[in-house]
Amino acid sequence: MPQQRVADLSCRLSEYVEPDRVRREVYTDPAIFELEMRRIHERVWIYCGHESQVPKAGDYYVVQIGRQPMVMVRGADGKVNVLYNRCPHRGNMMVGDRHGSSGEFFRCSYHAWTFHHDGRLRSIPMMESGYAGTPYGKDHPDCSMKRAARAENYRGFVFASLSPEGLSLVDFLGKAIVAFDDMCDRAPQGEVEIVPNCFRVIQKSNWKIFLENQLDALHPSVTHQSTGRAAHEVEKDIEKKSGHAPLSYHMLSAFATVTIDKWDNFQTLNYPHGHCILTGYMGLRPKDPDTLAYEKTLVDAYGEKRMEEILGVNIHHVLIYPGLSVQSPLQQLRAVRPLGVDRTLTEIWHFRLKGAPEAIYRRSLAYYNLVNSPATLVNADDLENFWKCHQGLSSEGGDWVSFARHFGRDLQKGEMVETAANCGTSEAPMRNQMKAWARYMAAQ
Ligand code: FES
Ligand SMILES: [Fe+2]
Repeated sequence: MPQQRVADLSCRLSEYVEPDRVRREVYTDPAIFELEMRRIHERVWIYCGHESQVPKAGDYYVVQIGRQPMVMVRGADGKVNVLYNRCPHRGNMMVGDRHGSSGEFFRCSYHAWTFHHDGRLRSIPMMESGYAGTPYGKDHPDCSMKRAARAENYRGFVFASLSPEGLSLVDFLGKAIVAFDDMCDRAPQGEVEIVPNCFRVIQKSNWKIFLENQLDALHPSVTHQSTGRAAHEVEKDIEKKSGHAPLSYHMLSAFATVTIDKWDNFQTLNYPHGHCILTGYMGLRPKDPDTLAYEKTLVDAYGEKRMEEILGVNIHHVLIYPGLSVQSPLQQLRAVRPLGVDRTLTEIWHFRLKGAPEAIYRRSLAYYNLVNSPATLVNADDLENFWKCHQGLSSEGGDWVSFARHFGRDLQKGEMVETAANCGTSEAPMRNQMKAWARYMAAQ
């Protein structure tokens, strides 16, 4: 985008975001999307994947960061590197598959330049004669694959930032780091393992519409009411006949039984950089034999007191802006990959708690299939709303999007904004996301 265009756009942006509403162009203008990629997604820490996706040296997995094709690869030293998926010779993509093994080194399919897994040049065919008298060779930086400016691994979750400057990953995550601690702590071995493969859904809407939905506590009992009611009918029937209904029915019926007033009892905790935590967990602590057996494995691993602390963490959802939605108590993770102003890919993953009984994994799988997968009506109903929102925002039927629910009742506590009592359905998370968005977009 020409510099003058960027400067003009930057001036207008300050008028696009107000504390309780934003202009529709924020979701529909392709030039704004380009600037978002530059100033947000290609600068901040973006989730690449879990290290268990690349268990052995040479294993790789590709990932898109902003507009950049990247590859996450395990080196012989065990470290996970994040590189641009591009050969420095003539620009060929280094790997064409989504994932696989590169063996002992990367070898470009075009002219056979080879690279170590940290990106350093390993060899060029007939390098000595071919490059004699030129500055090019193993020590020339232009001959190596470019690395992400920064890459860090927190408890197995790999992030990269394409900017050399900025906060460390831990400082960037702040309190939202609980997403990974809560998920890993629930494993008797203190680690999780990703379950291959994920669902991939392309939504015909802007990426921010998905993120705004994640902690929207007003919508579940409306959008998902029909699913919840149908599941509740079946649940009651099974209960009448057999004495108890499987927990999986509760996962769906909760959309009808947890009504708007109950959602208001929950709370959102909104943090700098756009992150947010929704407290309250609909599964709570069931007392079925599977849960009790699982609790015993945690007691054996950590003792009674620590087990209570671990299972007492009361969060429903953690949003890590600008690209991650984590439901740690059920080991679910959704990564958002913007593809264009009106196109967004979400990767829907789930994890296995290492050392936990198989029944606990089946519970996570049930939630994955019943609530988060594209095969469920829950996801389909959300997707329909996302598409309809994008259509409405693209029209001339109005200029603003409103985030005014419970506006003015937020409680500022240091750097955190907390929703007041009985304001769980507040639009504070959306206000917080847009506040972070405006700050990122204003930074040159
Ligand atoms: S483009 Fe990769 S070796 Fe030539
Ligand atoms: Fe939803």
